[in-house]
Amino acid sequence: MNNSEGWELVCIGCGTTAETELPDSTCRKCGNLLEIRLSREIDVRSLFVGEGPGIWRFRQALPFSPDVEPVSLEEGGTPLVRAERFAAGVGLQNLYAKNDGQNPTGSFKDRGMSSAVTRAKTLGVRALVCASTGNTAASLAAYAAKGGMHAVVVVPRAGVASGKLGQAFAYGARVFGVEGNFDQALATVFDLVRKDERFYLMNSVNPFRIEGQKVAAFEIYEQLARAPEYVVLPVGNAGNISAIWKGFKEIRNLGVVDSVPRMIGVQAAGAAPLAAAYSSGEPFKPMKEPRTIASAIRIGNPVSWKKALGAIGESGGRAVVVSDEEIMDAKRRLAQEEGLLVEAASAAPFAALSKLELPREASVVCIATGNGLKDLSDHGGEQKIEPAADIDSIANSIGG
Ligand SMILES: Cc1ncc(COP(=O)(O)O)c(C=O)c1O
Ligand SMILES: [Zn+2]
Repeated sequence: MNNSEGWELVCIGCGTTAETELPDSTCRKCGNLLEIRLSREIDVRSLFVGEGPGIWRFRQALPFSPDVEPVSLEEGGTPLVRAERFAAGVGLQNLYAKNDGQNPTGSFKDRGMSSAVTRAKTLGVRALVCASTGNTAASLAAYAAKGGMHAVVVVPRAGVASGKLGQAFAYGARVFGVEGNFDQALATVFDLVRKDERFYLMNSVNPFRIEGQKVAAFEIYEQLARAPEYVVLPVGNAGNISAIWKGFKEIRNLGVVDSVPRMIGVQAAGAAPLAAAYSSGEPFKPMKEPRTIASAIRIGNPVSWKKALGAIGESGGRAVVVSDEEIMDAKRRLAQEEGLLVEAASAAPFAALSKLELPREASVVCIATGNGLKDLSDHGGEQKIEPAADIDSIANSIGG
């Protein structure tokens, strides 16, 4: 489809070209996910000096014709911060945090939401729907508001961070809860979009989400003036690892870089179906009752598992697990040694560093996927206000 615009939708399983991503972003023939392949000429010299809000400065590499008006909140362009003190603690010299918590709604989801809501607008869709552990709901709600569309989100009734739910309500979304976890929420949303064509599916199965999210790779390349040797990130539904890998592959194919990073996916030990498949070498199997304090990655049946295992395999990367204790310890250290407050899921890649045994000089980028302000309940430490009885009690607080 849309070869005239220089891109097409292709099934990752059977290679068939699809006419449309509707209704559920899967191949009509074999049920696998679709991906977008760009077939247009890209002018490499101008790719990194494009103009436009947020991800749209890379418009040349996005599957839209020039006359399409973007729905943007100026997402992306997040800082790549050197984390020297944390790095020293895990034996690294060149560790960076891509602080995606600084996106408009506080998570990495915003890049892909901009592209997919723009797509929805070109299709004339009125209602956008997603399943979410919280951040997708918040992001969808904001971009639907900006685009003038209805937002409907389906979440696990229990366990979603109150800050994220609060965002979804504030931006005007209708919020529905399922008894169960994210996997049941996503199954509900699949049912809905297959039965009622007024709803457009906005989870990261939607290949237009992946197109926006791939821009993170372009930004990292730009910020380092080369590709890092490793990108380490939390994996839940497995869209982001697939997207960032796609971005790096595209700039390699354009000759912008000649090396690409190894992609390292990190899961919580109690919600680790991808890591299990990776380390056992056995076929991917969903996990029934995913459990972890990191609610954003409490997912047992990641829908993009095949793309993610592809990204890990092709890049020579790995999938690893970390415990909840390791996640909370990394979260505290990031805040207290680096001034970087992330949510629990986003601390997972940092927690993995001490067990990955990466070369000391390697350049390593961890994706800090979500802002810690969304979930202050998972701080892990005591929040004790001490009595300010007199100034001596305060003066003594810093020791001798
Ligand atoms: C903060 C955060 N980190 C990581 C993830 C996992 O991303 P993905 O589902 O693309 O693997 C999510 C997904 O909700 C998230 O909200
Ligand atoms: Zn197919």
